[in-house]
Amino acid sequence: MARLYSNLIGWGHYAPDNIVTNNDLAKFVDTSDEWIQSRSGIKQRHIAEEHDLTSTMSSEAARRAMKQAGVEAEDVDFLIVATSSPDYMTPPVSSQVQDQLGLTCGAMTTLVGCTGFVYGLVTADQFIQTGAFKTIIVVGAELISRNLDWEDRTTCVLFGDGAGAVVLQATETPCGMRSFELGSEGASHEAIIAYCPGTAEPITHERIDARRQYLRMNGREVFKFATTTMGASLKRVLEKAQLTPDSVDLFIPHQANARIIEYAVKQMNLPPEKVVVNVDRYGNTSAASVPIALSEALSEGRAKPGDTLALVAFGAGLTWASTIFDLGPPVAKSPKRAQLKETVISEEGIVEGLIA
Ligand code: UT7
Repeated sequence: MARLYSNLIGWGHYAPDNIVTNNDLAKFVDTSDEWIQSRSGIKQRHIAEEHDLTSTMSSEAARRAMKQAGVEAEDVDFLIVATSSPDYMTPPVSSQVQDQLGLTCGAMTTLVGCTGFVYGLVTADQFIQTGAFKTIIVVGAELISRNLDWEDRTTCVLFGDGAGAVVLQATETPCGMRSFELGSEGASHEAIIAYCPGTAEPITHERIDARRQYLRMNGREVFKFATTTMGASLKRVLEKAQLTPDSVDLFIPHQANARIIEYAVKQMNLPPEKVVVNVDRYGNTSAASVPIALSEALSEGRAKPGDTLALVAFGAGLTWASTIFDLGPPVAKSPKRAQLKETVISEEGIVEGLIA
């Protein structure tokens, strides 16, 4: 059998309409626009409204990615949803998304903090390479605002809600994942943690009163971890792919803090036009951050077929994940996607495929 590669054929993202600026926050939190911008680069974030759920935001992002790819529900062989804020602890939110999208395939949720989408992308790529599945949707979604302590200024000003999705499809044309790294430093698991509910700390009135249900973060520890891990991991995946930093056409890092991104960019000596930064507009959307940044960059035409992307994420666990991913050829927007070889189209089509 010919070797199979993952072609990224569709992308989409969704963020709630409700935009909250730093000055809006400063009305009820002891903070300032100056502090938030200078420490994190964040200017505003989207915060979910009552009707938004992680499942509905995931489904909307996935619908947009499917439409963009020209993929119908029956074409999809597998669904992965990465999130730390599922609608419920049980069932897996991926099953709700699968239902909302009208898919009939299997679905799973990856709970790997901000790193979850890249973990999901690597998992999907493995299924494609083995020939197990042809078409896979990978979503990263987070409704983190409902898990934040709005009285804790050290966390609540940093995060935002949203979802991003991609459609991967098997192709025999070389593209997709050249290398990856999935990492975990579990000894630091308390650096980002929501203690309750969970089997370690089942819900009690005392725990709720102690606000154990909200996300806590040791910002300085995570900052140190991120600045030492991001650039180093990116270097390793480049080496594995036998590439140098100049071969990267677009660097799409996890959007937690503009200063962390700047640090990695300096280490790799990448020019600003090759780096995607949208943390100023979205804040840290955790598992949704890389797919939203990826989807925005592709929609804006910042990358074209054949370009080499570098995706790097870090987060709760503490975990990290990186990949070097080549964009493949566009495919004709036909529901008859099964005949993969016949769907590769012309150069004009390539451009159309990217900006449609
Ligand atoms: O995706 C998950 C990954 N998470 C991250 O990547 C977060 C990584 N960490 C960071 O981005 C940074 O550590 C923060 C943005 C969280 C904080 O920046 P920092 O420069 O490390 O600040 P700090 O924690 O050292 O705090 C400095 C001061 C403290 O006051 P004192 O003790 O020096 O008097 C804080 O109490 O800033 C104070 N502070 C605030 N002041 C105004 C903390 N939060 C706020 C706030 N507004 N919201």
